[in-house]
Amino acid sequence: KRIAIMISGRGSNMRSLIDACAKPSFPASIELIISNNPDAEGLEIARKSGISTQVIDDYDFGNNRQAHERQINAALQAHHVTTICLAGYMRLLSPFLINEWKGKILNIHPSLLPAFPGLDTHKKALKKGVKIHGCTIHIVTEKMDDGPILGQAAIPVLPDDTENTLAKRVLDQEHLLYPRVLKNFLLGFEADSTSDTLING
Ligand code: GRF
Repeated sequence: KRIAIMISGRGSNMRSLIDACAKPSFPASIELIISNNPDAEGLEIARKSGISTQVIDDYDFGNNRQAHERQINAALQAHHVTTICLAGYMRLLSPFLINEWKGKILNIHPSLLPAFPGLDTHKKALKKGVKIHGCTIHIVTEKMDDGPILGQAAIPVLPDDTENTLAKRVLDQEHLLYPRVLKNFLLGFEADSTSDTLING
């Protein structure tokens, strides 16, 4: 299997996937890293890893979302990618790319979906007073932060948690969860309603 990772920012989940895929036992290789943001901090990590890295800046395409995604698609095809991992990719994909790669795009989201889709998940979790929070890996469908759940990791919310402390503990779980769920997904343990959902990584 040949993976592409798409990022927009810091790239810490990308790094955890790069590290996991570097192990000989991992059933995939990372072939391409795409950022829509030329200033993404993660680009430096990507370039240092030696993996092909492309900036496909949405700004260059104005409002033409499909033209932007056509270029992304061409890059994915050129690298014979089989599976896409969104890792902090902050742009919604249009039906064009989602349909081209139906069932083959994974996303990581920093909440226990279906709770708290969208942005500011840790703030929302604290405001709501939930006692359990975490992260989710799911298959990308046309609805944002929706789609079949492949795995989740849960952590307790502590009484003195701030947005930052909570985010940090969830992020630690994200880094463990994404490689593990990706591996299971690639080996064919796809999520269904009765089995193969991972709890706590
Ligand atoms: C992570 O919290 C991820 O769940 C969310 O965006 C953040 C990206 O962080 N989708 P990083 O770029 O992987 O460090």
